[in-house]
Amino acid sequence: MDTDFWHRKWASEEIAFHEGAANALMLAHFGRLALAAGSRVFVPLCGKSLDLDWMLSEGYRVAGVELSRLAVDQLFARLGVRPDVSVAGELLHYRAEKIDIFVGDIFSLSADMLGAVDAVYDRAALVALPEAMRVPYAAHVTQLAARAPQVLICYQYEQAIMAGPPFSISDEEVRERYGDAYGLTLLERAEVAGGFKGRFPALEAVWLLS
Ligand SMILES: C[S@@+](CC[C@H](N)C(=O)[O-])C[C@H]1O[C@@H](n2cnc3c(N)ncnc32)[C@H](O)[C@@H]1O
Repeated sequence: MDTDFWHRKWASEEIAFHEGAANALMLAHFGRLALAAGSRVFVPLCGKSLDLDWMLSEGYRVAGVELSRLAVDQLFARLGVRPDVSVAGELLHYRAEKIDIFVGDIFSLSADMLGAVDAVYDRAALVALPEAMRVPYAAHVTQLAARAPQVLICYQYEQAIMAGPPFSISDEEVRERYGDAYGLTLLERAEVAGGFKGRFPALEAVWLLS
C-alpha cells in the first residue's frame, strides 16, 4: 500500500471511510480517556474526519497527520479557518488556534515536531495499513505520543473475504502491537450494522490503551 494509493483515493473522491458525522463509537467512549479541558489529542492518519470538529467543539486541542493535502485543505475549509502553512522537514505544518495538522507521511513526523500530546485517537488508521506497515506504525505512534493513553477502533472480519484496506485486526494483533507499552481494555465489540460494505458480517472493537 503505497502513498499513491491514498492520493488516488482522495483525488477520485473514493473516500467511503469518511463519515458524515462524528463517529458514534468515539462519542460513546472518548470520555474513558478522562482528559482535562484543553488537552491535546493526536489523531494519526486523520483524513478530514468530523471527529476533529467534535474534539475542538468540546474544548480539546487537536494534532493530526495526514498524507493528503487535498483532505487537509478540505478540513480547514469546513472548519472555516485559515491556517498558517509552513514547511516542517518533509512535511507541511498547517497551524491555527488549537489545531496543528501535518501533511505528509506519518513516518516523517518526529516527536519534537508533533510536541507533547495527552492522548491518541485512532479510527481507521491502524486498519488502513497492511501488516508490514502496522508493526512500525504502532511503534512509531507509541513513541510519538510518549505512551499517552489511546482510544483505538478496529474492524474485525474474515480477512479471506476481502483484501484490505480496511484490514481486520484481531485481539491478538492488538496485544502484539501495543501490549508491551500499554494496558489494554476492550471497551466494546459491536456488529457493523447491515454488514461490512453491506456484504458480510463484521465487528468493530473499541480498545482503551492506558
Ligand atoms: C481510512 S482513512 C481514515 C481517515 C480518518 N481517520 C477517518 O476516520 O476518516 C486513512 C487515511 O490515512 C491516510 N494515510 C495513509 N497512509 C498514510 C501515511 N503513511 N501517513 C499519513 N497519512 C496516511 C490516507 O490518506 C487516509 O486519509
